[in-house]
Amino acid sequence: MTMPTIPQPTYYIFKCEQSSPPGMPKPSCVSESTRNLFNHLGQSLMQKGLMGPVQLIRTSCLGRCQQGPVMLVVGQNERFMYVELTEEKIDRILDEHIRGGKPVEEYLIPAQFWGEPEPLN
Ligand code: FES
Repeated sequence: MTMPTIPQPTYYIFKCEQSSPPGMPKPSCVSESTRNLFNHLGQSLMQKGLMGPVQLIRTSCLGRCQQGPVMLVVGQNERFMYVELTEEKIDRILDEHIRGGKPVEEYLIPAQFWGEPEPLN
């Protein structure tokens, strides 16, 4: 008897959920005004029928705090860092990038903050 194959997700979305204590000089992705973004992302994925092909992962700091709130979209041979997220931006990213296959260029991190991968020594 052969076991059924479990498909891989087509995309992983890593949403930074780091929250700094009040008074910290360094910004963080989760504040009072951005607290709901993770839930919004999860609900939108479900409403759009994307949960399963897309796996949503709550993560800590992704190292781009100045551009937060951020999320990293990882596909088959691609990764995209989206910055300064809002609920509206998330919905558009899900429709145009995840569903439509076309990244939303104007929401991506500026190139100077997203250089080539660091080589391993
Ligand atoms: S706190 Fe989100 S990238 Fe650092």
